Amino acid sequence: MPAERARSVYLDYAATAPMPPDVLAAYTAALHLVGNPASIHSQGQNSKRMLEEAREKVAASVGADSVEVTFTSGGTESVNLAIKGLFASQKRSVILVSRAEHHATIDSVEWLAEHEGAIIDWIPVDHHGRIDLDYLATAFTEDVALVTLLLANNEVGTIQPVAEVAALAAAFGVPVHVDAVAAYGYLPIDFHALGVAALSISAHKIGGPVGVGALIIARSASVEPMIHGGSQQRARSGTQDAAGATAFGFAAERATAAVAANATRLASLRDRLVAGIRSSVPTATYRGDPDPQGRLPGNAHFTFAGCEGDSLLFLLDTAGFSVSTGSACQAGVPESSHVLLAMGVPESDARGALRMTLGVETTEAEIDALIAALPDAVAKATRAGLATQSSNLGLKP
Ligand SMILES: Cc1ncc(COP(=O)(O)O)c(C=O)c1O
Repeated sequence: MPAERARSVYLDYAATAPMPPDVLAAYTAALHLVGNPASIHSQGQNSKRMLEEAREKVAASVGADSVEVTFTSGGTESVNLAIKGLFASQKRSVILVSRAEHHATIDSVEWLAEHEGAIIDWIPVDHHGRIDLDYLATAFTEDVALVTLLLANNEVGTIQPVAEVAALAAAFGVPVHVDAVAAYGYLPIDFHALGVAALSISAHKIGGPVGVGALIIARSASVEPMIHGGSQQRARSGTQDAAGATAFGFAAERATAAVAANATRLASLRDRLVAGIRSSVPTATYRGDPDPQGRLPGNAHFTFAGCEGDSLLFLLDTAGFSVSTGSACQAGVPESSHVLLAMGVPESDARGALRMTLGVETTEAEIDALIAALPDAVAKATRAGLATQSSNLGLKP
């Protein structure tokens, strides 16, 4: 294990996952080779063979056919391509989407509203972050262009009713895009059984390289390309990254072969963490679906009232734990999670968010160490929160 990771307990798998040694070996071996997969000579054809083997592995990892795999530069590009490409391929204008989506989705639909005349119909979510199916059932009209939703929420882990959404949409001939980036490698995915038009995945969330992803596009779906050029792939131009795809293929094969066993192991570690936090910090509120079956196995998300999540994060970092607040910083300025706000969590509570995401290397000893370290960090972060409030009010802390 590299020295810099040995110092810290890494509990931020939803941000990115470590690359297993065999994936790294396959990646570096592939990087040594030269050859554009579009070239006719034998080195080019060797790259092409590697690329197509990787495409088959990635396709198999989500129950799709290799012709349905378009490699991209990652989850963000896949989501952009799916939403903008599905929208551009038809004449309808309404997009059904919730406010608890990843920013790749929110910002894509808002861009379409601003520049392409899209009309956004925001689907409400309940206090666990799950979309309101009753609302959705009444929202379909002849002007609905697409529905886009997460397979599982990347912040609070709540699993969405994708099959139900796909069935409702099918009745109106509306294509569905699923952002499966957070669920990939943690839940089994069967693209054909889901019956959706497109599904986004990303390599670095399962131990593949950053900057490599895929959009799975059903044979029957029509997605207008967003990057034009040499038409190397069905929905995307540009020289294909055979080495990145190879590493992605290895990681995909590895992660999905172990998905059931990994999910069982992670769910038990997660339950240990949740029980431990509940007893050591009784004021903590568990967020997302409390039903262990209703959320990602490796996700534990809490809010700590009166604490700033960022203070908590820094204190835990100093104590040797890498965790997350779950929400993005906009230009370095921390902001409350739009997901928690969409779930109806008050802004004051949303500020004290902490997301812990577990993965292949997480151990029981690490979980116990975090449970032991948390009360002190929460006490200090609460004092810091009180001090900030007092100084905002012009009082002495
Ligand atoms: C649900 C979800 N969608 C999309 C993305 C973007 O993926 P990438 O980092 O590969 O661009 C992420 C990354 O955090 C995510 O969690």
